[in-house]
Amino acid sequence: MKLKEFGKTGSKVSEIGMGTYYDPLWIATAFGGWKRGAAAKVGAIKAGLDAGITLVDTAEIYGSEPLVAKAMGEAKRDEVFLATKVWSNHLHRDDLINSFDKSLRRLGTSYLDLYQVHFPNRRVPIKETMAAMEKLVGDGKLRHIGVSNFSLEQIKEARSSLPKSELSSVQLDYSLVHRSVEGDILPYCEEEKIALMAYYPLGHGKLPSDPKLDSISSSRGKTRAQVALRWLADKATVFPIPRASKESHVRDNAAAGDWELSDKERADLDLKFR
Ligand SMILES: NC(=O)c1ccc[n+]([C@@H]2O[C@H](COP(=O)([O-])OP(=O)(O)OC[C@H]3O[C@@H](n4cnc5c(N)ncnc54)[C@H](OP(=O)(O)O)[C@@H]3O)[C@@H](O)[C@H]2O)c1
Repeated sequence: MKLKEFGKTGSKVSEIGMGTYYDPLWIATAFGGWKRGAAAKVGAIKAGLDAGITLVDTAEIYGSEPLVAKAMGEAKRDEVFLATKVWSNHLHRDDLINSFDKSLRRLGTSYLDLYQVHFPNRRVPIKETMAAMEKLVGDGKLRHIGVSNFSLEQIKEARSSLPKSELSSVQLDYSLVHRSVEGDILPYCEEEKIALMAYYPLGHGKLPSDPKLDSISSSRGKTRAQVALRWLADKATVFPIPRASKESHVRDNAAAGDWELSDKERADLDLKFR
């Protein structure tokens, strides 16, 4: 598995990460904190860790933090770059700190590598939210700060609200089939060395059939998912986070971290699906 620096953090993480959002029904069916199919999902996350994936993404609203904790076990904690998110109704100072502490408990850890604002909330001043983030960094409980679903303007506002820290990452929808970040946010992240975590990297499981994608897949002996993930991970600041719910898929996705597209293949894919 190839590693690359996550933004300007100095930490090298696997180019291919894992996401742990399942579906709204799954989130809604909480039975005493342990849910339908949980053991298989823990097995899938563990398979990813065993295959060398070190970047793991979750969120307070996903219901998957306890599964990530179970898959990691104590021995793995320092090897994992653990990222979670605070929901948009918890962005006032005390709410954010309370949410963070609950996530720590559910994840069974004393610190987080990355804490992200899940969605912006115009009713809460970003300065207040970012000051709370900086307090967590100052307290030694948080290493890095990120945002998700922010526009370029909101990303810049968040950065200017962090007098003592870097904004390390942005998480957005990005795949061969959804390319809107290429207009402004991706160039900005490349210029400023901000990690871009690509969610829905497999088009939410709906990569369309395409002669170019199919021909690269068959000539290289790679699955279509591996080609789609490799195309993302080849970009200096991009870290795809495909969902980890089925062991065989996770192993397939992890193997996308071990090969190279040629310049021609990459350029052909760049022109596709636009
Ligand atoms: N920040 C945000 O607002 C936000 C929003 C959405 C998602 N996310 C993050 O992004 C992650 C990924 O999003 P997503 O799960 O919806 O989309 P995705 O990873 O693009 O697609 C997931 C779908 O692809 C399938 N799949 C996974 N690996 C495959 C493979 N190797 N071959 C064929 N099919 C494969 C999955 O099936 P199986 O389940 O059967 O493996 C599932 O149906 C989430 O888990 C979450 O962490 C963040």
